[in-house]
Amino acid sequence: MIDTRPFDSAQIQRVYDRRSWLYGKLVAPFEFRNHRRAIDKAKIQPADKVLEVAVGPGRAFLEIVKRIDRDNIAFGVDAAPGMLSIARHTLETAGYENFNLSEGDARELGFENDTFDVLYNAYMLDLIPFADMPGILAEFHRVLKPGGRLVLLNMSKKKDGGASWYERLYGRLPAWLVLNVMGACRPVLMEGFVKEAGFVDVKREFLAGVIPSEIIVGVRG
Ligand SMILES: C[S@@+](CC[C@H](N)C(=O)[O-])C[C@H]1O[C@@H](n2cnc3c(N)ncnc32)[C@H](O)[C@@H]1O
Repeated sequence: MIDTRPFDSAQIQRVYDRRSWLYGKLVAPFEFRNHRRAIDKAKIQPADKVLEVAVGPGRAFLEIVKRIDRDNIAFGVDAAPGMLSIARHTLETAGYENFNLSEGDARELGFENDTFDVLYNAYMLDLIPFADMPGILAEFHRVLKPGGRLVLLNMSKKKDGGASWYERLYGRLPAWLVLNVMGACRPVLMEGFVKEAGFVDVKREFLAGVIPSEIIVGVRG
């Protein structure tokens, strides 16, 4: 696995804020099947309290809101205000009002300990430097109730396949291209980090395809 270029969170936030419309139209549709599969694994029940971190344009968040009771509220957070307004539009256009979307950083979620039954996070950790992973996963662990389910979906690669073509390209391109054109994401393998954060029953599924991905499911011990 390769680490990110040293892009700070303000640069990442700016890029995704600027490209929020484009991302929603051009990239998100390719990822939707993977989201569906990942969300199925969360086994969301109508009364579950659910948080999605990094909602982006809100396609997965809509899928989550569809699975809960109309009088239950789903919570979503993203660092980019542009993404949040697209997500709001996605949900409102589909006729839903039972959601709460707010600006925030995965490193410091503004929720009490033991709040959520399910935490969903997709295509965000592949933007994050390895040094920040333990802190973010500790934060996910903190806001989940004991027994709560964590479901991650990330750009990934086969476990024993060596460097992927994407990683080789990422390593060779100038930093500005990696940030502004590739969106700064690279394949990650999150299973070990999730176990180290104290999650149990951790399972991984690899999804081949246009955007090779992994789904990681874990239970807060
Ligand atoms: C590649 S997009 C994925 C969006 C959405 N999860 C999806 O799959 O369509 C990455 C998202 O993560 C958000 N993001 C990046 N770093 C973040 C952080 N530290 N905390 C919260 N959101 C973050 C970006 O603003 C962007 O919306």
